[in-house]
Amino acid sequence: RVLIVDFGSQVTQLIARRVREAGVYSEIVPFDKAEAALGPVLPRAIILSGGPASVHETGTPRAPSAIFSAGVPVLGICYGEQAMVAALGGQVEAGNEREFGRADLKIIDETPLFDGVFEEGERAQVWMSHGDRVTKLPPGFRAVGISTGAPFAAIADDSRRLYGVQFHPEVVHTPKGAALIANFVRDIAGCDGAWSMAQFREAEVARIREQVGDGRVVCGLSGGVDSAVAALLIHEAIGEQLTCIFVDHGLLRQDEATQVVDLFRGAYNIPLVHVDAGERFLRALEGVSDPEAKRKIIGRLFVEVFEEESEKLEDAEFLAQGTLYPDASRACRRGRASVTIKSHHNVGGLPETMKLKLVEPLRALFKDEVRALGRELGLPEAFVGRHPFPGPGLAIRIPGEITPEKLDILRKADAIYLEEIRKAGLYDTIWQAFAVLLPVRTVGVMGDARTYDFVCALRAVTSTDGMTADYYDFSHDFLGHAARRIINEVRGINRVSTTSPPSPPGTIEWE
Ligand code: XMP
Repeated sequence: RVLIVDFGSQVTQLIARRVREAGVYSEIVPFDKAEAALGPVLPRAIILSGGPASVHETGTPRAPSAIFSAGVPVLGICYGEQAMVAALGGQVEAGNEREFGRADLKIIDETPLFDGVFEEGERAQVWMSHGDRVTKLPPGFRAVGISTGAPFAAIADDSRRLYGVQFHPEVVHTPKGAALIANFVRDIAGCDGAWSMAQFREAEVARIREQVGDGRVVCGLSGGVDSAVAALLIHEAIGEQLTCIFVDHGLLRQDEATQVVDLFRGAYNIPLVHVDAGERFLRALEGVSDPEAKRKIIGRLFVEVFEEESEKLEDAEFLAQGTLYPDASRACRRGRASVTIKSHHNVGGLPETMKLKLVEPLRALFKDEVRALGRELGLPEAFVGRHPFPGPGLAIRIPGEITPEKLDILRKADAIYLEEIRKAGLYDTIWQAFAVLLPVRTVGVMGDARTYDFVCALRAVTSTDGMTADYYDFSHDFLGHAARRIINEVRGINRVSTTSPPSPPGTIEWE
């Protein structure tokens, strides 16, 4: 077990992720619980995360000295390095040269921390994000890496196995960072690297049983991977104590609702309430074209319908959700910022109104890890690999007012587009691809007749976490073919355009 001590960094979960990637189990604890978490059985290693505070100010988070006297290897990252230096008698000051973003690390000495990762004299790209810096090392330490803004960008006390780095090895912009973390937890701390999704599954099943006891759990299914994986895992843990509620808002893609019902009722025999609420949603959306208003209406109605159904299950005590780490952090970031970019309706909305206790078994995972867990649980590949789909569904892919006619047109175009992407073998390299129905009619000619039909836009992006995205560059042949099929086969569309902004500035969805 590796203990990750959290000083409030935005990316602490990424450290956990890198440790998992190295095949090692980890636990995250807040810094003020770190000493207690050392436990009767010591962790094999400790990693101190970054954080927003300044150690030279009073009242900021400290690293308990027990961490350094436990005799286990410690790696301090950014604020974690500074907290370690401060705790062991070195000095940290506010720097004149703040470093944010890409920086150049020069390796000036060897250390076991760098074995197989960096060589002496090497210059490596790393990611920095700090204002303060270490100015005097504690006894026993030496500098092993420097950067322009940080004379102690990497420090080591090999005999006590204490290490500090000012840069962030956990982010992808430090290309060799994952290898550094793997080297620390495996070679320096001696963890065997045998941890796997199978063990996560086992541990999480035990945790769910303990949390839920003999209570009843309701789980909202959306048709997407996350809620499906959460439901399967919880079902494995507590069987019939779980009931799934699938609020079908009538804004799903073609055949999607049937697929969800068939899979859960048929293949898995999991109790499922399918609420066919399409008409109710459409009625509420009638005449509404403002994107935020649409999102809010769908969000409110979703909660209403879900609540009505779960109240019918009288003794429901817990609410299960497939919230992932990026969902939670995006909701939190967007919530804190002064502007709301988009109201995400499926995070944070349900719990307060429902007074149910939350079960969120995927809260620490990233999308690709959830997919790996889905495979581990035997979820069919076609389901596991599904592109993300937004809670408000096709409503935010039809700018302007939503009508049954437009939904029908969009479903057909979207199905053709996705079919072509699958046929071309591109589905898995794309993060998300979908058709959008623009509220614009243009004049065309088909056969010898005039048409006055809608424009369809095709969007496809690559991404690793849905937070930033780049457009996917199809070949002209592919686009020409897909567009031709859509125009020929879907009545109501006479023009297809493609769209290319990366995100930011364009968000992935259109509304
Ligand atoms: P944007 O459009 O904000 O989308 O760049 C980022 C990712 O989030 C998905 N998305 C949503 N997912 N509820 C969701 O569950 C929502 O309200 C929602 N809005 C956007 C979007 O599909 C993309 O993957």
